[in-house]
Amino acid sequence: MEETLRSLQQEAIEKVNEAQDLKALNDVRVAYLGKKGPVTEALKGMGKLSAEERPKMGALANEVRGAITETIEAKQAILEKEAVEKKLQSETIDVTLPGRPVKSGNHHPLTMIVEEIEDLFIGMGYTIAEGPEVEKDYYNFEALNLPKGHPARDMQDSFYISEETLLRTHTSPVQARTMELADGKGPIKIICPGKVYRRDTDDATHSHQFTQIEGLVVDEHIRMSDLKGTLNVFAKKMFGEDREIRLRPSFFPFTEPSVEMDISCKICGGEGCRVCKGTGWIEILGAGMVHPNVLEMAGFDSSKYSGFAFGMGPERIAMLKYGIDDIRHYYTNDTRFLKQFSEKE
Ligand code: DAH
Repeated sequence: MEETLRSLQQEAIEKVNEAQDLKALNDVRVAYLGKKGPVTEALKGMGKLSAEERPKMGALANEVRGAITETIEAKQAILEKEAVEKKLQSETIDVTLPGRPVKSGNHHPLTMIVEEIEDLFIGMGYTIAEGPEVEKDYYNFEALNLPKGHPARDMQDSFYISEETLLRTHTSPVQARTMELADGKGPIKIICPGKVYRRDTDDATHSHQFTQIEGLVVDEHIRMSDLKGTLNVFAKKMFGEDREIRLRPSFFPFTEPSVEMDISCKICGGEGCRVCKGTGWIEILGAGMVHPNVLEMAGFDSSKYSGFAFGMGPERIAMLKYGIDDIRHYYTNDTRFLKQFSEKE
């Protein structure tokens, strides 16, 4: 038995030395030290030995097992180190290779123009207000002095969801909501950017969904000259200090008096060209003094408070500013179009 054990030790150590990788080494471990391996088998035969020999052989068997284990562990450490080194070598990074440029995106031109307009008004002390796109008929129309039966409420123009709800057709309902929340107390100074929806057939200048920015100021002693001064600052900051503005009388149910604002045409300098249709002026937005009915419906005392409001379409403003000729470019997201705005940020 002693011989068997010694030769097993010898044999196992040779096999360990021959093992080239961790898998082969593990095979040796299983073969010699496993439950069905020869060392275990040899130990099972101990019963047949005399009482005198048994402890001697037991000690020897343990010694053999220990020696084999030790050799395996030593070899394992060597093989593991080798494996790591091999891996490191195969994975070396060639830092001299030229890098691949990472393509970065840019803001959408509409986002840029909306943020530019927001910043401009924030600079004049305004805060931003928002409202729901699925709006109550009351805020979209009624609270803005557009009673039931008014032509602007035509089913042809609006996407109704139910009798009393629709996709808002403008951002003006945010005016009504903000005033209502103010509980009859000024001042209010807000701009409200957001999406609006109309039943229009899409073409170069129309879209069933587009963006608007609404402005509202309510306080004591707000006059038409405040509106004009504000719009003048806006136009010059947005389109250039050399631009003139012109207010034309107009009509909106929620303002009285109502105006439309034009800016002088940059292309022809006022001479008249194709862009301004020969007039020298380009229409930019609608505005006016908040109608007393609108103030009263929202809980404001119209003998004490007055206000002005304006509404504009950022799509149109960016089209004029950047010379974009088709509103659909904004929504089709062709990167050849979008990329052109990256340096303008
Ligand atoms: N809501 C109007 C529209 O969609 C735009 C507008 C005009 C808003 C005059 C105003 C305003 O606040 O005073 O055409």
